[in-house]
Amino acid sequence: MSTPSTNAPTGRRRPNAGDGPELVPTHSDEPLLQVRDLTVGFRTEDGRVSAVDQVSFDARAGELLAVVGESGCGKSVAATALSGLLPHNATVTGSVRLDGVELVGASPDQLRAVRGKEIAYIFQEPMTSLNPVFTVGRQVAEVLRVHEGMNRRDAMSRAVELLELVGIPTPRERIKHYPHQLSGGLRQRVMIAMAVACNPRVLVADEPTTALDVTVQAGILDVLRDMRDRLGAAVVLITHDLGVVADVADRVMVMYAGRVVERGEVHELFERPRHHYTVGLLGAVPSARTADGQQRLREIPGLVPTLAEQPDACTFADRCPAASDKCRSSQPRLDVAPASRHEVACWHPAGTDRAEVPA
Ligand SMILES: Nc1ncnc2c1ncn2[C@@H]1O[C@H](COP(=O)(O)OP(=O)(O)OP(=O)(O)O)[C@@H](O)[C@H]1O
Ligand SMILES: [Mg+2]
Repeated sequence: MSTPSTNAPTGRRRPNAGDGPELVPTHSDEPLLQVRDLTVGFRTEDGRVSAVDQVSFDARAGELLAVVGESGCGKSVAATALSGLLPHNATVTGSVRLDGVELVGASPDQLRAVRGKEIAYIFQEPMTSLNPVFTVGRQVAEVLRVHEGMNRRDAMSRAVELLELVGIPTPRERIKHYPHQLSGGLRQRVMIAMAVACNPRVLVADEPTTALDVTVQAGILDVLRDMRDRLGAAVVLITHDLGVVADVADRVMVMYAGRVVERGEVHELFERPRHHYTVGLLGAVPSARTADGQQRLREIPGLVPTLAEQPDACTFADRCPAASDKCRSSQPRLDVAPASRHEVACWHPAGTDRAEVPA
């Protein structure tokens, strides 16, 4: 891949690294990112809307955590809340600790310093995030100038290395191109290069391949995996595509109506889903891919409720084949447990006798 950089960010670079900007993964037993009871509401003209309710999870260095769930269940809001990237009408409570440093309630300046450098984001549509009037080289270099204080020349040569790192052919030529001159897949690679420019410790990718065709998708996922392994980053991948989850995730977190309903190691969760919502979603896996190459989540009858409708109940009760009166009057909670545990927030998990009894 690329030649070793003289400008690699400090701290986690392997001494005497071979070719390629190889970095020492920061594996440790302590989770890099600890999220506890993260709750996000929005003030609207119709009152307070709750989007994320007491979400807790850990993201570990060198691990890819997939976040799945139907549209509107709070995946993007939870992800953007991690670094305070929410509109002014949002209220956030709970705790987000990055390496022990609390981010909820941190000042705008502190959060700005964290974004990009510690927690970086990749979004679905690179065209809207890239500036059409500057070359991609300049845009990647700008990140390095702002966050790493590099001079123009060093930043540009590091930009070439970064484009090479994310698999862009002939990077020396490509840095001179404008976003519209690149394909969607190459633009997304440029976004990844910008996101990883400062060796972020957490990389949040929100539907990064949704707008791309299937072969291009696979390449982008390879790059994300590579960043997990080379940077030792904690990668949080939000996706609707369970095929993608099965391919790349280490752990999976299933969200429903703003809450985490199940979480576990990927093979365990696919083989023995315990929440009836997850069982429903997994019904999609053996089905054929759609024309755009995506394995969509199966439609589960009914609508996702708003949280306000069912504060003291399982939010899935109205759509669940195993729901009892208890489910409609008491909210099952997910314990915060070590990453390896398979956790479920359900009074009658699938695979137990009660679950076999239809409502
Ligand atoms: N600025 C806002 N003001 C009010 N409500 C909002 C705002 N932003 C998001 N929401 C609400 O928060 C909820 C969660 O939205 P979010 O975008 O996190 O869903 P998602 O799981 O990412 O869905 P998708 O898969 O479609 O991207 C939705 O009900 C949405 O309408
Ligand atoms: Mg979203």
